[in-house]
Amino acid sequence: MTTVVDRWNIHPEHRWLRGERADPAIQFDETQNLWNVYGHAACREMLSDYRTFSSGTARLLPVSVDASLMEGDLSQMDPPDHRKYRKLLTPAFAPSRIAAMEPRIAAITDELLDAVTGKPDIDLVADLAYPLPVIVVAELLGVPASDRALFKGWADNVIESFSGFTSLDTEQGPEDIREGTRQLQPLLEYLGGHIAERRRRPREDLLTVLATAEIDGERLTDNEAVNIANIMLITGHITTSMVLGNTVLCLDAYPEQGRRVRAERSLVPGAIEDALRLLPPATVLTRATETEAEVCGLRVPKDQLMFLWLGAGNRDPLEFQDPDRFDPTRDPNPHFGFGGGIHFCIGAGLARLEGRIALNALLDRFPVLRTDPDTPPSFFDTPDMIGVNKLPLHTV
Ligand code: HEM
Repeated sequence: MTTVVDRWNIHPEHRWLRGERADPAIQFDETQNLWNVYGHAACREMLSDYRTFSSGTARLLPVSVDASLMEGDLSQMDPPDHRKYRKLLTPAFAPSRIAAMEPRIAAITDELLDAVTGKPDIDLVADLAYPLPVIVVAELLGVPASDRALFKGWADNVIESFSGFTSLDTEQGPEDIREGTRQLQPLLEYLGGHIAERRRRPREDLLTVLATAEIDGERLTDNEAVNIANIMLITGHITTSMVLGNTVLCLDAYPEQGRRVRAERSLVPGAIEDALRLLPPATVLTRATETEAEVCGLRVPKDQLMFLWLGAGNRDPLEFQDPDRFDPTRDPNPHFGFGGGIHFCIGAGLARLEGRIALNALLDRFPVLRTDPDTPPSFFDTPDMIGVNKLPLHTV
């Protein structure tokens, strides 16, 4: 059977997407001077041990990243700082707060789909998978959702200029980072304007939380508040958009499962989870060894850059039975689509809710959702991500 990966030739450079298992599961790459980790057990061990495997990797990257961009970036912090910053955001993502967003997310979904229902062809990304999460995260933060064309332009420029962590050792890599940083400026200035406005006139939104929050008795700096808002805005919508696209691609590539999910809607959450496992939007995370460590029997010295290939761990046969099979009934499904340990994605509940509402609405409205090799989907180029930026579908 053709897999979804072969069907669209997704990232030909990733052999682990094509049934090849790396042996050993952790390997030192001399040319890049870093360690690649492919096994599920090793990834789990490293994600859960922040003392040994720190998220503060900037010091080891072969290119200097503008330090002001890192201020407030909780994904780069270790405890105790990480705990303090995460605590600021946790209430906004409490399960009860997320559940209360359901009617609004359903209404946005309906509004977006009303515009295309009855059309024989849609572009899933432009029509739903992109605008839905961006409107949701914009409303959560408190920036006008009507500015979403601006966010899209900025986010696309940043992603396009950045070819990924995996090419940092090339001449292009550092230049990409510099370019990505330049492209980010207008978005940061935009968010800075909103933070300043909230300091003057507080509202009931996450930007106000950031503008007025204190850590150890001190207010967040403008820069910290802006960087956190930026992480929420960018990571909160691109990844969710990718998961929607990837799930629809899986349902299309495995028609038997597609028919089953359509008929048994209780399988929708499981379909999203297994799409996250097979095609995780974030394929790789980085960590740095704080001390000498042992991973899967191998000694790793202090101050080493580690690449945790989540996508490979998600297909490890030692953890998952028949790992390359798309199976909406897979249970348990301990994939790393949302990472793991103390940095486990804070927006996972929101992303899952949006996915469930959007997928059910698509299945309700369209009796057919079919790709066409003549108008294939287009994928983001960066090897660090798996996701489409265009997904044309026939609906009849
Ligand atoms: C399906 C969609 C999503 C995917 C696949 C995803 C993936 C991830 C992953 C893999 C991490 C771990 C990073 C690490 O350990 O270094 C993470 C962290 C994070 N995610 Fe998500 N994410 C998604 C949706 C969201 C949403 C909707 C938001 C917010 C609106 C969000 C905000 C964050 C934040 C703030 C962190 C950092 C958490 C920390 O360091 O403690 N994500 N995400």
